[in-house]
Amino acid sequence: MENKENINKYGEINLVHRMTVIKRIIHWTFFLAIINNIITGFYIAYPFLFFGKTPTQSDSLSTGIVNSGETNQAFIMTWMRDFHFIGAVLIDVIFIVWLYLAFFSWKEPLYKSFLPFGDKLEEAWKMIKHYFTLKDKPKTGRYQDPLNAFVFTIFHLLILLQMLTGFQMYVASFTGTSAVGAWWPWLMHFSTDWTLFIFGGLTGVTIAHLFIMWLIIIFIAYHIYIEVWRSVMWKEGDILIPFGGYKYIRNKSETQ
Ligand code: HEM
Repeated sequence: MENKENINKYGEINLVHRMTVIKRIIHWTFFLAIINNIITGFYIAYPFLFFGKTPTQSDSLSTGIVNSGETNQAFIMTWMRDFHFIGAVLIDVIFIVWLYLAFFSWKEPLYKSFLPFGDKLEEAWKMIKHYFTLKDKPKTGRYQDPLNAFVFTIFHLLILLQMLTGFQMYVASFTGTSAVGAWWPWLMHFSTDWTLFIFGGLTGVTIAHLFIMWLIIIFIAYHIYIEVWRSVMWKEGDILIPFGGYKYIRNKSETQ
């Protein structure tokens, strides 16, 4: 009886698979690596704390220099850079896996939900209208909606640009060859030297890297907000997708 009432109110409820295990691993690796790189990146850009004793440092809180602590803590910048690079390696690897799956995944290639023309654009526009008016909820199904797919594509392009500007700053500090051979700096120069031209030198590349970080922070704020919003407004458990891989669909809601 109670079940029948719910069906009348919410429509028929079905469970639908939305995210494969590999995509979920990619999702949470992105999450951890990006949070790590935002924190360590901030430190590298604005080194607000120094620990440990060096002969030239005086004990002054106003300069952020504290003369207590272990000698190894004097290397805090080295640790921050180390963790930043580990995060970057993770991001590079999962980006390449994501790119491969976007085209060759059997289960959910990106083009199933996103092609930037035709009815996909119209569907994305319908979703924007729904967000602002709360009316005419577009149907949800097996694949991401075109608006989300579009936003995720922009996100991955930002990540790509962040990788390339990061590699340019990294290779700039190389002198001569590298421990693994000359091919490595050559590859980085070959793939990223154009950023020097586009952003007007190494300072410009550094500023671009910082600016893209802010765009990624805006994406994260929007993304978490909208996924919580969808879960609350649609009552289809959208927030569960990156955890269990499933969500509910009923394609009939209180607002319809
Ligand atoms: C650094 C933080 C995060 C980043 C960079 C991020 C990024 C992404 C990306 C790129 C996708 C699309 C996955 C794909 O390629 O198919 C996605 C999907 C999703 N994320 Fe996140 N995410 C973050 C944090 C979170 C958090 C904290 C939640 C909430 C628990 C969340 C919930 C979701 C949901 C529900 C989807 C599926 C959306 C759909 O298929 O319609 N994300 N996320």
